[in-house]
Formats: sequence, C-alpha cells, structure tokens
Amino acid sequence: MAPTIFLLLALFSIVESTAGEGGGLKLELIRHRLSPDNVSPMAAKSQIWPETSQFIVKIAVGTPPTEVHAIFDTGSDLFWAQCRPCVKCYRQTNPIYDPSKSSTFRTLSCKSPQCHLTGSGAACSGTDTCKYGYGYGSGSTQGELATEKMAVTSRSGATTSFSGVVFGCGHNNSGTFNANEMGLIGFGRGAVSFVSQIGPSVGGRKFSLCLMPYNTDPRISSSLSIGSGSEVKGPGVITAQLVRTSDQTSYSLTLKGISVGKTFVPYSTSGPPAKGNAILDTGTPPTLLPKELYGRLAAEVRRQIPSKPIDDTLCYKGNLGNLVMTLHFDGGVNLRLSTIQTFNKMPDGSFCFTAMSVDDKDALIGNSMMANFLVGYDIDNMTVSFKPTDCTKIG
Ligand SMILES: *[C@@H]1O[C@H](CO)[C@@H](O)[C@H](O)[C@H]1NC(C)=O
Ligand SMILES: *[C@@H]1O[C@H](CO)[C@@H](O)[C@H](O)[C@H]1NC(C)=O
Repeated sequence: MAPTIFLLLALFSIVESTAGEGGGLKLELIRHRLSPDNVSPMAAKSQIWPETSQFIVKIAVGTPPTEVHAIFDTGSDLFWAQCRPCVKCYRQTNPIYDPSKSSTFRTLSCKSPQCHLTGSGAACSGTDTCKYGYGYGSGSTQGELATEKMAVTSRSGATTSFSGVVFGCGHNNSGTFNANEMGLIGFGRGAVSFVSQIGPSVGGRKFSLCLMPYNTDPRISSSLSIGSGSEVKGPGVITAQLVRTSDQTSYSLTLKGISVGKTFVPYSTSGPPAKGNAILDTGTPPTLLPKELYGRLAAEVRRQIPSKPIDDTLCYKGNLGNLVMTLHFDGGVNLRLSTIQTFNKMPDGSFCFTAMSVDDKDALIGNSMMANFLVGYDIDNMTVSFKPTDCTKIG
C-alpha cells in the first residue's frame, strides 16, 4: 500500500548510522542466571520455564548511554525500555533509563510520520505527544514514542551507532519480566521494528540467529547477525517462503503436521491446516500447540519413549531413547529435531517436553525448538532459512 511505502521512506532517511557502507553487525545474545529471589513464583512452579530461558540483547541508549538489556523477540515490533519517570515500573537491577539525562532524546508528536509506523501501537488522543500501548500474553507497557541515539557493540569490539531510532519510553510496565530484563526489542516484520529501522544502513532488513540449547552453560552467549553477512546459505540450508497474513508483524509458516519417528501426526484431523498457522517467536521459550494437536502428539511421544513419564506429564527421569521429531511445513520444508530441541533438562535432572498445549487454533514455535539451528530471517525477500548448526561453534 502506498501510504506504508511513503512512511518507510520517510523513516529510512531519518535514521543515520556510523556503519560503513552496508556493513553488517555481529552481536551477542546473553542469558541471565537469576538469583533465587529473582525467580517469580510462576517460573519456579512451571516445569518448562527454567531460568535463563530468554535471550537478551545489550544496547546502549542515549547520550551519555545507558546500557539496556532487552528481550530479543521476533514475535513483536516495538523496542521499549523502562523509562523514568515511572508511573509503574517493575523491579529492575540496573539503573532505569532516564531521558531527562540524555541530550539526544526527542519525544514524537502525533503529526510525525514515525508516530504512525506499522507495529508501533501508537495512540493519539487529546494531547500532541505520541503515546503507545502494547500488550503481551504476559504483560503490558505504556508510555510515549520517542527517538533516541542507540549503539550496539559487535563481537569484534566495534561500536556502531544509529540516530533517530523510534522506541517506546515505557512509564507504565508490568508483567512476568524479571529484574534483569529492562525492556523488549522487537525484531518483527513491521516498519517500527529495530531491524526494519536499522536494516537499510547495515545491508538490508535481514538477520540470523544461532541460539544455544538450554542445557549449555548460560555464560556462553548466542549469536545475532544483522544486515549483510547474516545470509544463511550453503549445503544443508532449508529455505521456506513466509506466508502473508493480515498480521504484518509475524514470521508465519504453514505447519502441516509433526512426525514422531516415522508416525505422522497431522496438524488437524478436520481438513488442511490454515495458511500461516504457525509463527516463529523467540520471545516465548516453549512451543505452544492447539490442545487437540498436542493431545495426539503427546500420546505418540509417550508411546515411543522407552521409559515411563513422571505422573501424567511429559517429563522423564529415564532414557528418552533416540527420539526424532520432524516439523513438516508447506513447500517441502521439513525440520528434523533431536531431543536437544524437544526436551529441556530441569534442575532436578529430569527431561521435560518443550511444547505445551494452548487454547488457540494456531501454533507458536518457541525459542527452545530453534536451538542449534542457524535461522536466517529476510524481511524483504519474505523468507526464513534453517541450517542445522552447533551454535557453540559460531563466534
Ligand atoms: C498502567 O497500565 C495498567 C495496565 O494496562 C492500566 O490498567 C493503568 O490504568 C495504567 N495506569 C496509568 C496511570 O496510566
Ligand atoms: C533477496 O532478494 C534480493 C533482491 O531483492 C536478491 O538479490 C537476493 O538474491 C535474494 N536473496 C535470496 C537468498 O533469495
């Protein structure tokens, strides 16, 4: 649509960067081990949400910079951080970003084109400042949309900065965030997402990720590559065309079914699956499957694992055997998963299935199932590529 294109162009000419011509970025994604008093009761009770289940990007915001640790999320667009003055902020270990101390902070007005970018959650009413509101399954944030100078540091030590990046200055934030998570950085397809904004100055709106399996030492960081050099190619690469749905944020694929060993479990028993029924969401640790599909899948997993599960869970103390599961997406895209991706080791030594059932007709592929794949997201080409990779070997 023409208005969208106009806004994109308006934005691209606004973000300025110190990146060399088309130079890509190679960043670290870290996981935080929580101190015991930081673990929310919900996380402690739930069997498949161990600590260190989110991947965090470090980004320097403002002048002089405040280091913000933000959850890396392909399931949303906006970058927001807890921001003073707080109407309501959850507890945070590091200092909360204070725009009154930054010389490069600018609030946006409702008249500015950036206030109306896709995925911004902007709401203009009454006042002239661009307010936003954003809700997640597990929390919400409200505040004002603003622009700031942002900088990221590559593994090589080089720092690249970007001026005029649109972000949410969150004054009213709540949810299941822990004290080490200072905000959330959206890498969705929408125009306001961090990758959409900085992509043109680093060689394109594309990025790739290699996430460590849960069971690796959380001190080992995972990799995030943005722009040129992030392409996933070579032998063993499986590329899928993303499905265009009404949702302009998500990376959607069509999941036809899941095999357990040689047994194919179809997505639905009542006809073909809806187009774009599965999204890739790094901001959610478990994979979420519709109840009915989960039931059929769980029965098959129980049938094929040699040992007995603990009570009526899909957690095992004993041998998992050599269980191979395959995600079958449209277009002949088949992702083979080993127990590294399908079972998490719990603190008590048992192994629990990384998928859960939800009351929804669509599926969400969480970050645990994408571990040890180099996954390339290309917004302009509308593709996602997968390459089985030992992520500890990527630097
Ligand atoms: C803060 O956010 C909560 C949750 O969305 C909302 O109910 C409340 O009214 C907000 N408070 C203010 C002062 O805006
Ligand atoms: C993506 O699209 C560009 C042109 O828009 C093309 O040059 C490039 O080869 C494409 N990349 C892949 C991996 O298809």
